[in-house]
Amino acid sequence: MDAFRPTPAVSDHELNPADQARPAPNNHDHVAEESQRFKDMRRAVINILEDATEDRLKSEAAARATLNILEDLTNARAEIEILNAGLEARVRQRTAELVVANENLEAFAYSVAHDLRSPLRALNGFSEALAEDYGDRLDATGRLYTERIKAGTERMGALIDDLLVLAQVSRAKMSLGLVDLSAEVAALAVELHAREPGRKVRFCIGANVRATADRILIRTVVQNLVENAWKFTAKRDEATIEFASIPAKDAEICCYVRDNGAGFDSAFIDMLFQPFQRLHSVSEFPGTGIGLVSVQRIVERHGGHAWAEGAVGRGATFYFTLNAKGAHHDLVLSL
Ligand SMILES: Nc1ncnc2c1ncn2[C@@H]1O[C@H](COP(=O)(O)OP(=O)(O)OP(=O)(O)O)[C@@H](O)[C@H]1O
Ligand SMILES: [Mg+2]
Repeated sequence: MDAFRPTPAVSDHELNPADQARPAPNNHDHVAEESQRFKDMRRAVINILEDATEDRLKSEAAARATLNILEDLTNARAEIEILNAGLEARVRQRTAELVVANENLEAFAYSVAHDLRSPLRALNGFSEALAEDYGDRLDATGRLYTERIKAGTERMGALIDDLLVLAQVSRAKMSLGLVDLSAEVAALAVELHAREPGRKVRFCIGANVRATADRILIRTVVQNLVENAWKFTAKRDEATIEFASIPAKDAEICCYVRDNGAGFDSAFIDMLFQPFQRLHSVSEFPGTGIGLVSVQRIVERHGGHAWAEGAVGRGATFYFTLNAKGAHHDLVLSL
């Protein structure tokens, strides 16, 4: 009987005892089981493929959306570039128009001021002749009138001179070099003390304040500010005028002139740099009100800016920067 027993692939003693206990599956069950396993596997593979297809479709959609966004962005950028180019062209054109308009205006102001001088000279000369040749025939009121005419023509002469100076500082060619501003202020201090030796004014001048500037023009700035400080401290028994520089974030330098004089009402601060605007009466402090306009023009030509701080009776400080980063001297000059 043993001869008919098929040789087992696995010997009995190698089988798991649990398997040994279980009845051996017949062939039909085995095929069904294999077929089920195959079906399950196929289902699993199909599921995986379906999932992969779905993922691919999703990533294709995302890629398409990204492409659309990129396309939109490219179109938007192209549009912005076109708009920018148009804007730049318009700004260039407006700037050029402004330059021309400004030059015309300055030329006009210059020629008017210049032409006004000769009738003014005539007025002045004839009022003097009237006083000299006919003074004895005029009564007190007549003499007062001739004096008033003379004073008026002198004031008008001063205004015209200031206008010419303003035109000059706006038009003069600039030649930049390193200027020692401390030395300029020191020289001015000596000059002012010599002019009015009776005054007690202490100058505090920061050492080695230097800047790249046109020497003649920057001297006008310093002169206007220091002379103002001298003038508006006239009523102080002991005046102090300080000149120094402070760190400037966006410019080559920031300087200031500070005094302990009359100060001004800061509510009117915007008027300070306007032509012929004054915050003090001529009888109290003489002047025409053009000095600070020249200051602003000149510092703007140097790519800078001027501003002030002050309070009535508590002195004033005038600041100016030069050579601000990114500023173009000539463009600022023209505007
Ligand atoms: N240091 C200062 N303290 C107080 N007020 C000042 C000072 N500097 C200028 N101001 C005010 O600003 C005004 C304008 O100053 P600006 O220098 O332009 O003219 P001005 O000195 O009156 O005349 P000028 O044209 O002769 O300089 C002055 O009249 C004054 O009211
Ligand atoms: Mg002045």
